[in-house]
Amino acid sequence: RRLAIGIDIGGTKVAGGVVDESGAILHRTRRDTPHRSTSPSVVEDTIVESVEELMCRADPGDVVAVGIGAAGFVAEDRATVVFAPHLSWRNEPLQQALSQRIDLPISVDNDANAAAWAEATFGAARGESHVVVITLGTGIGGALIIDGRVQRGRHGIAGEFGHMQVVPGGVRCECGNRGCWEQYASGNALVREARAMIEAGSPVVADLLSRLGGDAGALTGPFITEAAREGDATARELLADIGEWLGIGLANLASAFDPGLFVIGGGVSAADEMLIGPAREAFRRQLPGRGYRPEARIVRAVLGSDAGLIGAAELARAGR
Ligand code: BGC
Ligand code: NA
Ligand code: ZN
Repeated sequence: RRLAIGIDIGGTKVAGGVVDESGAILHRTRRDTPHRSTSPSVVEDTIVESVEELMCRADPGDVVAVGIGAAGFVAEDRATVVFAPHLSWRNEPLQQALSQRIDLPISVDNDANAAAWAEATFGAARGESHVVVITLGTGIGGALIIDGRVQRGRHGIAGEFGHMQVVPGGVRCECGNRGCWEQYASGNALVREARAMIEAGSPVVADLLSRLGGDAGALTGPFITEAAREGDATARELLADIGEWLGIGLANLASAFDPGLFVIGGGVSAADEMLIGPAREAFRRQLPGRGYRPEARIVRAVLGSDAGLIGAAELARAGR
């Protein structure tokens, strides 16, 4: 057997798994992402611990490589994370640092590129020629796949769609700018808006607050999705707002790339139609030349929030 370990380092969690040739996850692990203010080596410790734990659970002789999907700008060398808005990495030689501590071949890619690779190999993007993949988590990740290949740009960092400005002078972003798309359509945006409603004493959050036992600090993206699923009107409204911003960004991306398919993954995509329905509506309303052009389909990632770790493993297994 040729198994690989995939580690997906997001802004909130480090998810790892042992993945087989068919993209199935055999063992899993999960840790919190160390805070942005801690040293880069702390994140690396977390990765190494995850890999060691998974190696204990798999038959070590079966694991041939380790793949890392990192939430940041990965340079064309596929080894250095030049910048990561949600992590402490700045020109971090990630592959080199990990190679000193893990005795297996290691490949590094951007987390959304890894997710896109998984969807192209095993999921929703299979057999499609022009695909844009969007991951909604702490931030927004992006990838463009043309004819089965992830497009990397001149310097390796194409697909940073989360930092397109959608609101001039808008909310400050960890990248240094204002009004980035990920400040409006990510999991962070969802939680920020919910908290703002609570702080403003909005009368419509009473049900949501009582579900939280009065503790607004306990609010998370998955909590809001769960509440929405159980029929909470405010939670549904919050997801629909995120969906609307999602659709607006997708219309911009359609202008740039004219894809046939948009695949929406990441943790927030668990909200499914409660998110993607409003996104489709906003997309149709916002698409330039609407009515006179074919419309891309917008679907949820088949591999959901596992796509990043599956893709990272598959990239490593295939030596890409
Ligand atoms: C980062 C991307 C990353 C995305 C999702 C963004 O803020 O700039 O590199 O793919 O978040 O994690
Ligand atoms: Na990307
Ligand atoms: Zn930004």
